[in-house]
Amino acid sequence: MKRGPSRYISRTAYLDPGKAGSYERDRFSGALGRYRWRREMDGVGAVVDMLPAGVSVLDCPCGVGRWWPVLERRAERIHAVDLSPAMLGEAERRIGSVAVPVEVSKGDAERLELADASVDAVFSHALTKHLPIPLQQRVLNEFARVSRAWVVCSFSLLNHLTYELWRRRDLVDSNALLPEQLDDIAAAAGLTEVARRRCTTPIGVEHSVLFRKAAA
Ligand SMILES: C[S@@+](CC[C@H](N)C(=O)[O-])C[C@H]1O[C@@H](n2cnc3c(N)ncnc32)[C@H](O)[C@@H]1O
Repeated sequence: MKRGPSRYISRTAYLDPGKAGSYERDRFSGALGRYRWRREMDGVGAVVDMLPAGVSVLDCPCGVGRWWPVLERRAERIHAVDLSPAMLGEAERRIGSVAVPVEVSKGDAERLELADASVDAVFSHALTKHLPIPLQQRVLNEFARVSRAWVVCSFSLLNHLTYELWRRRDLVDSNALLPEQLDDIAAAAGLTEVARRRCTTPIGVEHSVLFRKAAA
């Protein structure tokens, strides 16, 4: 059955060249922004450093390519994919400053135009938090399909205590997962969790998670 395009805000929010141009400035300026940046770099970097050296990596969505200085610590080449031509345009300007070859192309995480098992590792940061749970499953399935062995993907994860506290204050983010929901999504994608790190402020819920393909 042919599916039409899904609708969620981050599919269209980054199409505007102005927003793409100020993406990092808007999020990571000022003392709090720099603190968040450092926490993200440390948390995600610790997970990326668990990958073996010399892997081919799909970075999806790559946004403006801000993770390449971290990915190049393990990658021997990077294929960077994003839905937004404006974000890809910003990313292309950075290719020259990366130590490994980078290929950039437009694509959709929900239906990647890549063959099964065509890269060693898929890296995805700050996509699933924008997606309803069935779409988180769909993109994780795609990442597992195109990866030979590894997937590093961020998720908003609540424990039962934070869930209850958030729920009482009407703060529960419908895209955030409880631990058992992440287990179910991973198992359905054929992935086993290897490690996770919090990659935001101490009160935030975003985590970077390393998975290995069950069959790898
Ligand atoms: C919050 S940004 C994160 C970008 C980058 N991973 C980072 O951490 O800076 C979200 C990105 O997802 C892209 N995006 C949204 N839906 C997508 C999809 N289905 N496939 C590929 N990219 C998508 C947007 O264009 C945007 O660049």
